Amino acid sequence: MSTILLQLSDLHLFAEPERVLRGVPTRDSLIEVLEAVRQTGIDFDRVVVTGDFTHDERRETYQSVNGLLEEWLDRCHVLPGNHDDRGLLSEVFTDQAGGTDRGICFSESVGGWRLIGIDTHVPGEVPGRIEPAMLAWLERELAQHAAEPTVVFQHHPPISVGSAWLDAIGLRDAEPYRKLIAASPQVRVISCGHVHQECVGTLGGAVVLTVPSTGVQFTPLTAKARVDSIPPGFRIFVLERPCDTESVVSAVWSTRVVRLSKVTFPAADE
Ligand SMILES: [Fe+2]
Repeated sequence: MSTILLQLSDLHLFAEPERVLRGVPTRDSLIEVLEAVRQTGIDFDRVVVTGDFTHDERRETYQSVNGLLEEWLDRCHVLPGNHDDRGLLSEVFTDQAGGTDRGICFSESVGGWRLIGIDTHVPGEVPGRIEPAMLAWLERELAQHAAEPTVVFQHHPPISVGSAWLDAIGLRDAEPYRKLIAASPQVRVISCGHVHQECVGTLGGAVVLTVPSTGVQFTPLTAKARVDSIPPGFRIFVLERPCDTESVVSAVWSTRVVRLSKVTFPAADE
């Protein structure tokens, strides 16, 4: 049997339900995206939310997101983005935000695959960083589970996405992390948020992916921020159970981005 994952990212909700980000009422947009998730009819094994839950970092906003995600909370992992308050995220998503004082993270085996989430949040900063304690934990997890094909989730992408303004706020000081991934062939996929657009690249033996936001979309390959007029969406992964005799690098997986059929809430450049 295969394992099916849902990835949601960059929700950017406000405490005031009607408040907009670049013209988009982010709460209404999330509600519409979640309805599209239900309409897939898929019983997702895991749901991973890769950061930027709120745009205002207020407790009541986290509570509101928690309420909207209620039906998936029993199988949900959360990771912080730059627009998050790590403490509030942990407090409101008590059962979903694993980890310790090294940050929010998770590592679990599902359907013969290892799912790992790492924290790239730096309080008060827009770019991300993997702190030494988090990197050391990741290194231990990868060493301990080297025989399991692995998907890593994180907010900030570890590679260029081809847009100067986004690359300037990407993952800082990433060389030790890149070396670790290059030395860990079981990492098949690294899936990120942050850039509000679909992008694909590679790092070591891994495919690096990004996902749309559930609200505002940004146009790929631009020097400065420009909103995109395509609909919001989410990403689905299908992970096939590896055979016992299979090499870790040949495990079969597939992914696709699902976007809404139309734009209900057009975005506007500021
Ligand atoms: Fe974001």
